[in-house]
Amino acid sequence: MPFDLAKLISECEAAFDGEEPQNKIIDVLTKSLCDPASVKAVLAPTRRTGFEKLYVSEQFTILHFIWAPKMAMPAHNHNLWSVVGVYEGREDHIFWRRDEKKSPHRIRAIGSASIGAGEVLSMDENAIHSVLNPTDLFTGGIHIYTQAA
Ligand SMILES: [Fe+2]
Repeated sequence: MPFDLAKLISECEAAFDGEEPQNKIIDVLTKSLCDPASVKAVLAPTRRTGFEKLYVSEQFTILHFIWAPKMAMPAHNHNLWSVVGVYEGREDHIFWRRDEKKSPHRIRAIGSASIGAGEVLSMDENAIHSVLNPTDLFTGGIHIYTQAA
């Protein structure tokens, strides 16, 4: 089924009105990315690195992310749960944890995930991650973040 931004927004709103919205958002975003070429056609990426807000409410934000070839974002946290998906290219995520034994500012890698077109990744509010576009092409994705409580 071709991508429909209005449908994605309405299904996200419905998910937040019910129980366990994060699990529902995983399903909603996965379904929305089932035809990755149609997502690209609708969002029409400009090839400028960065993000644009597709929708903002009191409960959640939907961002359209464009990663330049080989672009990397250092380790950071959001203090919010999120569900991110890719419609073109690839995002490689490394997950980190604070290593309090060595220093309050020290982190160590604890895992990784790589998502390509049509794939989704869910992160809880305690996640610390860094992101790399490992490809020589632009990567495009949709990221859904909750709002601070
Ligand atoms: Fe992030």
